[in-house]
Order: sequence, then structure tokens, then C-alpha cells
Amino acid sequence: MPSIISVADVSKTYASGFRALDHVSLEVQHGEIFALLGPNGAGKTTLIGLICGIVKLGKGSVKVAGLDIVADYRAVRSMIGLVPQELTTDAFETVWATVSFSRGLFGKPLDPAHIEKTLRALSLWDKKDSKIMTFSGGMKRRVMIAKALSHEPRVLFLDEPTAGVDVALRKDMWAMVRSLRESGVTIVLTTHYIEEAEDMADRVGVISHGKIILVEDKVTLMHKLGKKQLVLQL
Ligand SMILES: Nc1ncnc2c1ncn2[C@@H]1O[C@H](COP(=O)(O)OP(=O)(O)O)[C@@H](O)[C@H]1O
Ligand SMILES: [Mg+2]
Repeated sequence: MPSIISVADVSKTYASGFRALDHVSLEVQHGEIFALLGPNGAGKTTLIGLICGIVKLGKGSVKVAGLDIVADYRAVRSMIGLVPQELTTDAFETVWATVSFSRGLFGKPLDPAHIEKTLRALSLWDKKDSKIMTFSGGMKRRVMIAKALSHEPRVLFLDEPTAGVDVALRKDMWAMVRSLRESGVTIVLTTHYIEEAEDMADRVGVISHGKIILVEDKVTLMHKLGKKQLVLQL
């Protein structure tokens, strides 16, 4: 599989002098679910923000589908959808309006059929005319995913999609992410839950103190971590 994202020797030092990323290189392959696994403060949001053009690139280079994120920033951004860690939605808007508006921000022509397909895939179709302020946290998260998919990106970034989400909703989210992958979208998600990386990802990159420690396909990684299970029959 060819890579869709190439991160080459990237370092990032914030204005405070803090080095959040230290010589990071990473390839994400087309069509995979890639989990960036690491504790709080490891640099996950910084790395995603950098690829999405929210955090200014320090040293190194990043390409998305062969295009440089700095030189070709406009083309790159239109290929990317980002669901940030914090939930930010327009409380007074309807689902349909906010998702359609997001598409417009990327200069894409109206496409009600695409918006409908996206809302149906996220089980939001029945709620399309509801105001977002009436929604639970899990539903708001789905609205944010719909917004991020509104302009038909090739890569979807999900920053801690299930932090603070209960177990049942988490399973729903995982099923939904898998079905998105079926539709051909490459997915990069961050998590600090090892089970999440294990259950969802095709490959896992472990990040700590701004360094990528290893990148493995999930099966190999879980083998390395030496999971032990004891089953008691009473
Ligand atoms: N704008 C900023 N200025 C200075 N330090 C920052 C800034 N943003 C993040 N950091 C620091 O960079 C480190 C990595 O943060 P972050 O990328 O958010 O980690 P993660 O998403 O893995 O929890 C943390 O120590 C954080 O405090
Ligand atoms: Mg983060």
C-alpha cells in the first residue's frame, strides 16, 4: 500500500522553548486505520495539528498524497478532515445547516446527496433538523465527525474520539470508524487507551515525550506487549 501521509524528520519546539516533537518520521498508508498511542502530553495533538496546518511546522517536512503541507496548503487542507479533541459545536444550528456550512467553507459545491449519505452513516439522519444544543456528548461528537467528512476528505483525523465516552458508545464509535474505512477514507486517531488501539487500528504508532518509539502492525505489537489472560472456570 502506498503512503498517504509522510512525516519526515519533524521536530517542533513551542515558543515557550518546550520541544513537543523530536525527530518524528512516520508513514501512514492509504486506506488504513492508524492509531497514535501515547500518554497525555506525549505530543499526539501537536503532531495531528501540524499535519492539519493548525500548528506551525518547525523542522522537517510533511506530505499528504504527495503534496507538501506548506507549499500546497490549500490542496492539502481540502483532503483532510479533523475532529478535534474538544467538542465545539454551534448550539443553535441544526445538524443539516452546520454540516452543509462546513462543506461550503472548503469551497465545494452543494451536494445534498453527500450530506445525506454522511448523516445516515453516522445515524444522524433522523435528527437532521434538530438543534445541536439538544444533543448528548456522543451525538455532538458524531456531528463533529459529519462536519469533518462534509467536504469528502481522503484522510480523517480523530483526536481522542472516545475520551470520556462510555463503553457502549465507544463500541459504536469503533464500528462507525471501521465502516468509514470501508468507504475508502484513511483514518488517523489518537488514544491513550491501549484497548482502543488494539480493537480499532490496523497499525499502531507509540509516541512518548515527542518521540515515536515504535510503529507496528497491531497483531505484532500486541504479541510484543505479551498480553496474558487467565480464564477461570468455576
Ligand atoms: N501552545 C503550546 N505551547 C507550549 N507548550 C505546548 C503547547 N501546546 C502543547 N504544549 C505542550 O506540548 C506537549 C504535548 O502536548 P500535546 O501534543 O497536546 O500532547 P497529547 O495530545 O499527546 O496529550 C505537552 O507537554 C503540552 O503541555
Ligand atoms: Mg491531545
